[in-house]
Amino acid sequence: MILVTGGAGFIGSHVAVALLQQGRDIVIIDNLCNSRLEVIFRINELTGKDFPFYQINLLDQKSLDEVFKNHEIEAVMHFAGLKAVGESSDNPLLYYRNNISATLYLCEIMKRHHVKNLVFSSSATVYGETEQVPISETCVRNACNPYGRTKSMVEQVLEDVHASDPSWRISILRYFNPAGAHESGRIGEDPEGIPDNLMPYITQVAIGRRESLSVFGADYDTVDGTGVRDYVHVMDLADGHIKALNHLPFQQGVEIFNLGTGRGYSVLEILHAFSLVTRKNISYEIVPRRAGDVAIYCADSTKARAVLGWEVRRGLIDICRDSWNWQTRNPGGYGVPIPALQPRVVELAQVME
Ligand SMILES: NC(=O)c1ccc[n+]([C@@H]2O[C@H](COP(=O)([O-])OP(=O)(O)OC[C@H]3O[C@@H](n4cnc5c(N)ncnc54)[C@H](O)[C@@H]3O)[C@@H](O)[C@H]2O)c1
Repeated sequence: MILVTGGAGFIGSHVAVALLQQGRDIVIIDNLCNSRLEVIFRINELTGKDFPFYQINLLDQKSLDEVFKNHEIEAVMHFAGLKAVGESSDNPLLYYRNNISATLYLCEIMKRHHVKNLVFSSSATVYGETEQVPISETCVRNACNPYGRTKSMVEQVLEDVHASDPSWRISILRYFNPAGAHESGRIGEDPEGIPDNLMPYITQVAIGRRESLSVFGADYDTVDGTGVRDYVHVMDLADGHIKALNHLPFQQGVEIFNLGTGRGYSVLEILHAFSLVTRKNISYEIVPRRAGDVAIYCADSTKARAVLGWEVRRGLIDICRDSWNWQTRNPGGYGVPIPALQPRVVELAQVME
């Protein structure tokens, strides 16, 4: 059985579906601090498979230990964490506690139960302000905000855990910019409050939930002056996780993999592609750069391709189409049941025309 922490979240839910569809047994832990119980029902609905779900906080060691006592867990996929860069600067202690202490507890309990296979959700933010593009795994860790430092520190902890006991097998996956949604439109990205990521911001403007998109800086040394990022479809990401999990028994120690497409797009290119796919024009305004943002962030994922056999199958058009499909089917996200919202969808769409 695979334990999926943060399995009600954006990426964890898509991986949970992929695992169940591969015939794996899973158990999900999530405290729902950034997700909804509805996600668990939809994972069940999409796959037709039952699985145990525990609404617990990873910081609650006693409950976490119970989960390991109740189930024969062979590997852990650890998604649970807080991920908003700005919030991490405002409240670093919350981030260090939730992302680092929780991972320490998790590893201690894994060790106690002789579970030593782990796939960890890291982030390209561990590279910080680097000029090296595309970025390979050998690029130094140089995170420049508390969120990125929590990921960087956890990576260090995991390397030390393995150094002390080589029977651990750990896969560290550094995601670039996850986007898109399951093709069914039943699960997708539903951020609490103002979206931190570009694609949900765009879809929320398109559906009428927000007025206009702020584009941070148009004077970068890029194709059109706006920042370039490497957007990877969440279903390709899910596939990368399955491959990383399957590879664990064959690897020695800790392996780090970048998961990105290797192709970057500027904010304006994304807006253009989104308009092409959805026939919606997104109102935006150029505002000053954000501190800590770099011009281009793009992955060298040669290692994931060579070692895991991971392939990116979906492109920008798929990301735009699937994100919009998710948003139009769930205008209010998971918060409001779809039937109740359907009349409002029509209303909002009319306002937007
Ligand atoms: N989405 C991105 O842009 C991105 C990029 C790089 C890395 N990551 C990392 O990937 C992981 C998953 O990201 P996501 O986009 O799915 O985020 P998400 O917020 O949608 O999912 C995280 C889930 O973890 C749960 N959670 C948080 N703290 C918890 C705790 N202490 N105990 C139990 N559950 C807890 C939340 O309720 C949420 O459901 C995170 O670790 C994130 O840092 C995300």
